[in-house]
Amino acid sequence: MELMLSIDIEKCIRCGKCVKICPSMILGQEKTGGEIRVLAPENCIRCGHCVAVCPTGAVVHADFPPEKVHAFDYKDYPAAEQMMLLCRARRSNRAFAEKPVPEALLSQIVEAAYRAPTASNAQEVGFTLVTDPAKLRLITEFTLGVFGKALKKMRHPLLRPLVKWTMPDALRYEPVFERLLREDAQGHDMILRNAKAVLLIHTPQASRFGCQDANLAYQNGSLMAECLGVSQFYTGFVCSAIQQDRKSHLEKMLGIEGQIHAGMALGMPAFRYVNYIDRLGLRENTL
Ligand SMILES: Cc1cc2nc3c(=O)[nH]c(=O)nc-3n(C[C@H](O)[C@H](O)[C@H](O)COP(=O)(O)O)c2cc1C
Repeated sequence: MELMLSIDIEKCIRCGKCVKICPSMILGQEKTGGEIRVLAPENCIRCGHCVAVCPTGAVVHADFPPEKVHAFDYKDYPAAEQMMLLCRARRSNRAFAEKPVPEALLSQIVEAAYRAPTASNAQEVGFTLVTDPAKLRLITEFTLGVFGKALKKMRHPLLRPLVKWTMPDALRYEPVFERLLREDAQGHDMILRNAKAVLLIHTPQASRFGCQDANLAYQNGSLMAECLGVSQFYTGFVCSAIQQDRKSHLEKMLGIEGQIHAGMALGMPAFRYVNYIDRLGLRENTL
């Protein structure tokens, strides 16, 4: 394999930080202050920690040329109190205004999401932003279609006992599905609730931690949305319909390769909150 990692010995001060930080033990240093050696570059997961931690720019990595390396100061981080306020006050706001979400805000939300960590630094998460009203409607119709089919099975005298036996939980949703379909027929989309955009987060089918990776991306994106004054909620109904469908119909209709794991409905808020409230109770154990 082509060597994509080297140490510029002119710049290296042999502090050993790159050796200690590397998750794959690619770099070695025999003794404190000794020369840094590249031992097994083929094990590199391309996380860039070695480059990010080097105080002198001595780590040369093909994936991280100077234009991809940005000096920053921890002093510019949000203060802990600001972060805590964000955690306390953020909401799933479903009361959207009629105006669209400006593109510049949507791109910042996507960037925040794409910067989330991924298992083994796989970086296989894909993002599809849907803003076309016809395609948004398609998402709702797909979801209600799946729920409608489930209802039919639940109401069928022969299939009902089977559903009860194989998916005892499913029957709990009977009244929910009925209501969603009834409301939609009356012009109230309870699936996307008049969202002006939906960010679908997906990974290739074979992705081992696809669901976890996608949902971590979701949370980054949703907190960014909150900071930008954009409202969002998790499209759980859509995701549950995708899981029930099992044939990737929605992915195919939208031209998405792989599997959708999370979806963020987005819109500008019709109004803002004035209070944050406490959750029901913190379930915490210390062992
Ligand atoms: C996995 C998951 C699925 C959700 N699905 C939906 C949904 O389909 N529609 C919706 O309006 N809200 C949905 N929500 C939002 C929750 O209802 C909301 O997070 C919860 O009521 C707490 O409110 P908060 O987010 O404002 O603190 C979902 C949230 C999560 C975490």
